[in-house]
Amino acid sequence: MSEGKVTAVIKHPAGALGDEKSRPQFHFTPERNWMNDPNGLIYYKGEYHLFFQHNPTENIWGNMSWGHAVSTDLHKWEELPVAIPCTDEVGIFSGSAVIDYTNSTGFGSVENPAMVAIYTEHKNDKRKQSQCLAFSLDDGRTFTKYEGNPVLDTNSPDFRDPKVQWIDGQWLMTVAKPDLHQISFFTSKNLKAWKHLSDFGPAAEVGGCWECPDLFQLGEKWILIVSLNPGGYQVGSGTQYFIGQWNGKEFIADDSKTRWLDYGRDNYAGVTFENAPDNRKIFIGWMSNWEYAHTFPTHPWRGAMTLPRELTLHGDKLFQKVVNENGIPKITFTTTGGSIRISENRDKFVEIGLREKKIYLDCTHAWDEEALPLSKEFLLQEIEIDLEEVEFEIYLDRGSIELFVDGGKYAFTNLTFIGTARSLVTPIGEIRNLNTVNFG
Ligand code: FRU
Repeated sequence: MSEGKVTAVIKHPAGALGDEKSRPQFHFTPERNWMNDPNGLIYYKGEYHLFFQHNPTENIWGNMSWGHAVSTDLHKWEELPVAIPCTDEVGIFSGSAVIDYTNSTGFGSVENPAMVAIYTEHKNDKRKQSQCLAFSLDDGRTFTKYEGNPVLDTNSPDFRDPKVQWIDGQWLMTVAKPDLHQISFFTSKNLKAWKHLSDFGPAAEVGGCWECPDLFQLGEKWILIVSLNPGGYQVGSGTQYFIGQWNGKEFIADDSKTRWLDYGRDNYAGVTFENAPDNRKIFIGWMSNWEYAHTFPTHPWRGAMTLPRELTLHGDKLFQKVVNENGIPKITFTTTGGSIRISENRDKFVEIGLREKKIYLDCTHAWDEEALPLSKEFLLQEIEIDLEEVEFEIYLDRGSIELFVDGGKYAFTNLTFIGTARSLVTPIGEIRNLNTVNFG
């Protein structure tokens, strides 16, 4: 057994909705039915809004609508009714939300500004994707679709996932042309009439569709996040980012190097919150992978979000730090060449550590091959590093593990089939400063 400080895991009433096998205990999941991408992440009047791609009636992708949850601390989420429902003809695909403080749209007033969702309308016959608006005058509780929709239509079947923000007195839309491996930029004064500015790409990884972009400033630099499916780091879905400058018209990348946001398999379509306090860039991703998302065996819901992570830039690398002001249980340790094993029983465990100058996360023994076959090579992740001593920070929830190495320089996010109940932490080799969790 390990030594060190021990914190306790949150307990859920046994057998209740929320206590199912593989139901995360401190990650957001919808109570029931399917969820994929986070949408419209925004902070407003003390609440973080998490909208999400949701099938309100089934546990598989379809009937795409915007689900909705709110939180005051990014930790405890309250699920609200569906915010923007699909119709028989169209799905409500991914997008973003803004607060129209100057009432540029005329939807609200300066005293009570509208929350405006900018989403992709996807025709079910697959002929077209275009950008549309819906607005809320009651803090995101109810939305009205704009009667002048669509507001941006290029007659394309592949044109989606608008991320809109207010920059220098104008609206800027960052939106994907997935099959062309391009991100397009458009400008508007009122969210209703849009003018094309420029396109970025193809660049770096182009082994799949480009989706769900995000553009934001960190210090002197601008970051462009682009999700990619397939063609990810290991298998299926992955997220890359570019570092550069936004000059008011174009994004100019410093280079076209591949930079992965996450070295795990299950962090996709993530974006950052608009208007977060203190200008923090807080990121949430969908904790799954299109490679097997549909068959991941959970019921009566399917899909979870990553923990919220604050992004910072150090040199030419994005660092991720879990927003953990509420003391979510974590395991930490330092090593110059050892590992820890977190085991549910003798045969079910994950192993994490440093060997031969590589950090590794081995989930080979944390997968249920019968429930969901996945090639063994995808269950082990290794990264070569140039460090003698390495710090590890681990968040193990039912059904997932998130690992952060060297202060968040490397992130690994994986679904697993390990629950936290009765897990033991065993140090192997040289391990220091081990703080662990009482899995009870
Ligand atoms: C990414 C994505 C988006 C799209 C949404 C549909 O996972 O394919 O590009 O808007 O999912 O649910």
